[in-house]
Amino acid sequence: MIKTFSTKSSGKREIIRTFTFILCLLPLINLIILLLFDGLGVNPIEFVIRDLGDWALRFIILVLFMGFLLNMPKFKILFTIRRMVGLFSFFYISLHLSSYVILDQFFNFVVIWEDILKRRYITLGFLSFVLLLPLALTSSDQSIKRLGYKTWKVLHRLIYPAAILAVIHYFMMIKANYTEPLIYAIILCFLILSRISKKFFYS
Ligand code: HEM
Repeated sequence: MIKTFSTKSSGKREIIRTFTFILCLLPLINLIILLLFDGLGVNPIEFVIRDLGDWALRFIILVLFMGFLLNMPKFKILFTIRRMVGLFSFFYISLHLSSYVILDQFFNFVVIWEDILKRRYITLGFLSFVLLLPLALTSSDQSIKRLGYKTWKVLHRLIYPAAILAVIHYFMMIKANYTEPLIYAIILCFLILSRISKKFFYS
């Protein structure tokens, strides 16, 4: 009886994981379709960098929002997919960075380094990437065991400053229409405040 139940629920989890995986790939598939059908507009390189940057940030916010929902018993199922969504955020960040390095700068690392030092929004994007790197590298169960759950959890709080830097990176590079970064900033403030209040009330 117990066996049937656990097989059923692990089957359900597998379906949810597969469905999430496909959903997370949709932004990339959409970009490839646009590329194949000449839909990237007059400045295709800028379009690609910006689209991947948008999705990188959306995925980070989504992971944080999932963390918020996980406080409610109803949403415990999200444990099944949170790590995958987190890894997808890093996947889109890596594509965003690669498209800048390859398509925009043609691997000219001297210019890239100058950009990181001189252009403030690139400096912040780079810092955000540096903060997210250890999170992606320690996402496995073995890393949790090796570091110990407490240390691992503290390390993974780096996602908050990384998300703040990414939102500022977005704000600094646009010249008009601040609506989208403003929405992300408001959601992020809410998530950070709810995290702080949870710590304050329950610790
Ligand atoms: C070394 C790291 C990074 C570099 C070099 C970089 C570079 C860039 C560049 C060149 C642009 C386009 C600027 C333009 O078209 O004028 C951009 C936009 C953007 N980046 Fe980054 N970025 C980095 C890290 C990040 C990270 C970590 C995130 C998010 C997690 C991110 C999110 C965004 C967003 C949301 C945009 C604006 C997209 C839009 O206009 O719709 N970037 N970035």
